[in-house]
Amino acid sequence: MYRVVTPETESELNAYYQLRWELLRKPFNLPLGSERDEYDSVALHRMMLDPDGRPIAVGRLFVGGDEAQIRFMGLLPEYRGQGLGARMVEDLEALARSEKVKRLVMNARQEAVEFYRKCGFLEVGEGPVSFGRIPHRQMIKSLAPLQTIQYRPEWCQDLATRWSRGIPISEKMGMQITHYDGHSFHLGANLAANLNVHDTMFAGSIYSQCVLAGWGLIWLQLKELGLLGDTVLAEGSIRYYRPVKASPEARVAREGMPAALLPLRNNESARFQLSVQLYSGGKLAAEFTGKYVVQPPKKR
Ligand SMILES: CC(C)(COP(=O)(O)OP(=O)(O)OC[C@H]1O[C@@H](n2cnc3c(N)ncnc32)[C@H](O)[C@@H]1OP(=O)(O)O)[C@@H](O)C(=O)NCCC(=O)NCCS
Repeated sequence: MYRVVTPETESELNAYYQLRWELLRKPFNLPLGSERDEYDSVALHRMMLDPDGRPIAVGRLFVGGDEAQIRFMGLLPEYRGQGLGARMVEDLEALARSEKVKRLVMNARQEAVEFYRKCGFLEVGEGPVSFGRIPHRQMIKSLAPLQTIQYRPEWCQDLATRWSRGIPISEKMGMQITHYDGHSFHLGANLAANLNVHDTMFAGSIYSQCVLAGWGLIWLQLKELGLLGDTVLAEGSIRYYRPVKASPEARVAREGMPAALLPLRNNESARFQLSVQLYSGGKLAAEFTGKYVVQPPKKR
């Protein structure tokens, strides 16, 4: 039986760092010692043992607030290709969940990107170049799954992950996708995180929640059509009908889409209007009208 253990004793830790060096530094002719960094003393370490108790894989988790980073993951070549690498990631993920982490992040070497994708990570951009020659891709996996979403849950999860990375304030506002059925999209927010001096929801937060709901629906509709595009808000107006005192939820229906998005097929921008309703505890509290423009992706 293969087991994942925490190296604790001096000899276990020596074996752990030795294997880390052999797998991840020796192939680049880097000296012993180069396999360690200043976070090792505060990070969490895992090592996999084969049925004879021989160390065969290592991995490290560093927890920092809402995020945890996986680093120094490696498995002996003769054990690869039988699901053991994925088991190491699962173990590190379980560890992160037990630390109440919201997101796992990591920088993957190009040849490991597909492996991490299979483990549920999303590629979000360029990472660092190690030793001046090994480029990495930044990858991220959200650990707060959208259990209530039945239709396209994985797309909604992708969207939530992109928002938490690209628009950090959406996370501070407690934005959460609550519904998507291919036609309409609902986005909730945490009232407590958006209060004004009157203990009701801040008008600017209501506006942001509506804008983001419209943007989110467009992103999902683009995916439904297999199209790519960059969405911006060109014009927006809002009417506030009543103070928001409970469970703010923005609701938007696809209206003119998908037809409105079709100009993108001819490499032309799509322009259209969306109306977003903001409900407070189920009562209509605000109505936002936005003119969105979706531009074809820029040629690189
Ligand atoms: C990356 C690594 C840990 C993967 O371990 P592994 O045990 O071979 O991976 P698994 O067998 O668990 O693979 C899980 C899935 O990923 C896929 N996968 C694994 N490595 C892959 C690769 N290099 N390219 C494409 N797919 C890969 C597998 O086919 C499998 O897919 P499936 O679920 O559809 O069957 C291992 O190859 C390794 O240690 N590499 C060298 C060190 C390294 O690159 N570490 C990462 C640093 S960023």
